[in-house]
Amino acid sequence: MTTFWSLYVTILTLGTIVALTWLLFSTRRGQRSEATEETVGHSFDGIEEYDNPLPKWWFLLFVGTIVFALGYLSLYPGLGSWTGLLPGYQYLDNDTQKQFSDGKTGWTGAHEWEKEMARADARFGPIYAKFAAMPIDEVAKDPQALKMGARLFASNCSVCHGSDAKGAYGFPNLTDQDWRWGGDPQTIETTILGGRHAVMPAWAEVIGEQGVADVAAFVIAQLDGRPLPEGAKADAANGQKIFAANCVACHGPEGKGTPAMGAPNLTHPQAFIYGSSFAQLQQTIRYGRQGQMPAQELLQGKDKVHLLAAYVYSLSHGEAKTADVQD
Ligand code: HEC
Ligand code: HEC
Repeated sequence: MTTFWSLYVTILTLGTIVALTWLLFSTRRGQRSEATEETVGHSFDGIEEYDNPLPKWWFLLFVGTIVFALGYLSLYPGLGSWTGLLPGYQYLDNDTQKQFSDGKTGWTGAHEWEKEMARADARFGPIYAKFAAMPIDEVAKDPQALKMGARLFASNCSVCHGSDAKGAYGFPNLTDQDWRWGGDPQTIETTILGGRHAVMPAWAEVIGEQGVADVAAFVIAQLDGRPLPEGAKADAANGQKIFAANCVACHGPEGKGTPAMGAPNLTHPQAFIYGSSFAQLQQTIRYGRQGQMPAQELLQGKDKVHLLAAYVYSLSHGEAKTADVQD
């Protein structure tokens, strides 16, 4: 904060407090000290107003707020660049005199958070380090690791993948055997560390509206072996030709997908994240899709991602299921 804005905030805040104090005492001065039956003299629709002093407890309450404000503003930052008198906020670590990352002192929300993180690191760091040195499928058998992984998952991943990790529209289920990018421990960790960006091109302009309907019909009738909805105007045989010409490069000759590019298996309708109905498939094929899994390496650090990978792996492999490890 520049000196100007610091002064601006300080003068405005203290000025307001001084002005309110003056107002409180100056209005009290002219008032009688005892309550009477006399009114101020005006009447609003027959309602009149007693000419009585502010009750004492009420007056003291106002004085209390002023004292509180001054106390608060000297302890905590609030007046421009004043950092507050609160002790214990000079260093992140008082023993080593390690500074806060912004180099400043005093209480701030960021400093509070940094201290909390440092405490958590001191407490859990050695445990994370122990698991980080173990292979993921081993970690996935450790009840303590799974408990920690479940907690990390609940706070960082469940918004998208669901608290049971079973996914939702647009977000894959992580508990089944259908993997878009691959389900071996290493690949799961790579997915979480670096994130993923799937690119399914839009096809409407390439194969036309009828082509979209035909190839969607082929996916349903041939790849999935499901009946087409009644009255569907689509030719699955023509769809097969379109599929061979345009889709096999990514989804593979049998439509079973290519994990390297995140092209999903199209033979398992339950694995579709954008819906498996005739209408939904046409929508996906017509406009394309761009699923994005956000990278976690910078947010969580490698050790936590290692635990998360083990937890995710356990959901479809270990004997431990979600219900057992979430308490
Ligand atoms: C360049 C590679 C590529 C080509 C070519 C391609 N796809 Fe895809 N497709 C993908 C990827 C990657 C995804 C995953 C998109 C996502 O997760 O957001 C996908 C997703 C889909 C889905 C949605 C699956 C779900 O989970 O809901 C369908 C259906 C589909 N493709 C059908 C087709 C058809 C039909 C064609 C040919 C007309 C085709 N794709 C051509 C890469 C491709
Ligand atoms: C903002 C939403 C979002 C958050 C948060 C999120 N993910 Fe994802 N994740 C996705 C999407 C979308 C995909 C699918 C990408 C695609 O279309 O291929 C995905 C894919 C994945 C996959 C690959 C699944 C497969 O079939 O190959 C894994 C593993 C995964 N996420 C784990 C996690 C973990 C662990 C976390 C928490 C650290 C997490 N995700 C947080 C949106 C999210």
